[in-house]
Formats: sequence, structure tokens, C-alpha cells
Amino acid sequence: MHLPVMPEEVLRLLNVSRGGLYVDCTLGLGGHAEATLAASDTARVVGIDQDDSALRLAKERLDRFGERVRFVKSNFSAIREVVEEEPDGILADLGVSSLQLDSDTRGFSFRFDAPLDMRMDPASGGRTAAELLEELDETEIANIIYQYGEERHSRRIARRIVEKRKAGEPVTTTTELAELVKRSVRFNPKDKIHPATRTFQALRIAVNGELEILEKFIFDAADILKTDGVLAIITFHSLEDRIVKQTFQRLAGKCICPPRQPQCTCGARRTVEIVTKKPIIPTEDEQRQNPRSRSAKLRACRKL
Ligand SMILES: C[S@@+](CC[C@H](N)C(=O)[O-])C[C@H]1O[C@@H](n2cnc3c(N)ncnc32)[C@H](O)[C@@H]1O
Ligand SMILES: [Zn+2]
Repeated sequence: MHLPVMPEEVLRLLNVSRGGLYVDCTLGLGGHAEATLAASDTARVVGIDQDDSALRLAKERLDRFGERVRFVKSNFSAIREVVEEEPDGILADLGVSSLQLDSDTRGFSFRFDAPLDMRMDPASGGRTAAELLEELDETEIANIIYQYGEERHSRRIARRIVEKRKAGEPVTTTTELAELVKRSVRFNPKDKIHPATRTFQALRIAVNGELEILEKFIFDAADILKTDGVLAIITFHSLEDRIVKQTFQRLAGKCICPPRQPQCTCGARRTVEIVTKKPIIPTEDEQRQNPRSRSAKLRACRKL
């Protein structure tokens, strides 16, 4: 069962009770969208997702709201083209959905033996995780695992992946990769997560280009908002959260010119107010009820 993360906090920040147009950039199974539509009879939602199977399920769940919701199959990096009116609020609840993680065929999780695909939009024509491991050189693979997975043993993992490839036995399934990682890292009994978790996260981020699109998306989203409209973003790991935090600071007018430069040339301009001085995290109750929420951080800014 998929529970939306911090639904009350999100609705409060987005000020949903006043009605208006809300863009849910990561519709998923429609949890946040449903809460938004239920909170006000005059709220409308544009629900974006790049995953057809998520859209199909969300359509069923939100059927009763009729014309108040519109579904768009797209990457949210195209928000400018997708949304024609100035929205009152925009939400992005980043990362994968439980639908994707619990799929036994799409390769997001080592709990199921499946081909290493990991594309949120299989129709995109983008490279699968198996193709990345087949085509990138050892350093590129190590860099992905290090940067996107913050995995200390990235080099050793990459070396073994390339060794297998050279031996004519490329790593093509979740089970093969999980086993390879397990054999490459030293077992640490204090580790609460499976040793392959970080490598799987890293590959997923690379396959879907998750971090590359984030900064520009935030600039675009803030730009199309109505005055007083709110942009709220939920992240699930420190790399994403850092990008959101720093991009919000830039939108709030922070100058990034070299310190001794006499005049600002970076184009710093204050267009939003940051509403969450510190990120909001789920209550202990929610963390207990919904383990997926444990690493979540919610930040929001308001258009001036
Ligand atoms: C964490 S789930 C969202 C769950 C949703 N808020 C709910 O309450 O059910 C993230 C969803 O965003 C989608 N997604 C992730 N990145 C995307 C992107 N760049 N463009 C469009 N959809 C994206 C995924 O396919 C997934 O369905
Ligand atoms: Zn500057």
C-alpha cells in the first residue's frame, strides 16, 4: 500500500484549502493529488508522471474528481510546456514510487530477480541500467556509483563489473548485481541496509537523469508560479536535498560571485521567499507507519 509522504504538511504549505490550480509533478499513485482534490471543491490538479503504469492507476483512483483533474504523460522537466496557466502551487515528490520498487519485472529492486532496466519511462528509448554497465568504461561506472550512491567501494564494484564483462559474462540482472556488490564490499554488521542499496540507487539516478534535470526544473517551476504561489519539494537523499536547498537560495537572491569581485555579475535576483528555514521531516508516528518516509525532507518557497 502506497501512503503519500507528509500529506498534511504539504497541503498546509501549498495552501490548498483556498482552491486553485495545483501541479503535481510526480503523480505516482495519486496520493497527494487525491488529498489536494479532497481538501477543496475548487481545487484543480494537473498530474504529471513519466510512468504509464502510474498514470493508469492514478486515473482509477482519481476518477471521481472528473474534470477537476488532468493527466499528462511527460517528464516534469517539460513543466513549462505542459502547464498553460499560472499555478497556485507545485509539488514534486521525487524518486521512485512503491509501484516501481515493488514491480518484479522492472529491475528497481534486488528483492526480485529481473533484468536491470530501471527506466521510469520504458518508452523513452533511454539506456537501461544493464546497457550502462555494458557500455560505460570502468571509471565512468565507478564515478556514478561513488557520486550518486555515496558508495566508498565504488572502484572495486566497477572493477568487478568490467572484469565480468571482459570474461563474456556481463551483469544483466538484479540478482547478479546484488551478489557482485555483496562480494565486493566488506560486510559491516552495523549496516542497516543491504550492501547493494547504494549501488542500486546510483544506477537508478543515472538511468533516469534524476539530478541533471532538478536545478532547471526548480527555476522553471518558480518562474511559472502565480504571485504568492508555493513550490514544495520532497527529497529522499542528501544529493537531491542539497540541490533543492541551494537552488532555493539562489532564487531567494543569494549572490554566487567570487568573494572579492566589486560588482555582482551572477544575475542574483530575489524572486522567492524560502518558507522552510529548515527542511520539514515526518513525525515519528509517520516514520513508524510509513518506512518509506524516513529519509524524506520537505522544502518550500513562495513566489514574490
Ligand atoms: C514518490 S512517487 C510519487 C508518489 C505520489 N506523490 C503519491 O502520493 O502517490 C514518484 C513518481 O514520480 C515519477 N517521476 C519521477 N521523476 C519524474 C520526472 N522527472 N518526470 C515525471 N515523473 C517523474 C515516478 O514515475 C513516480 O511515479
Ligand atoms: Zn553575484
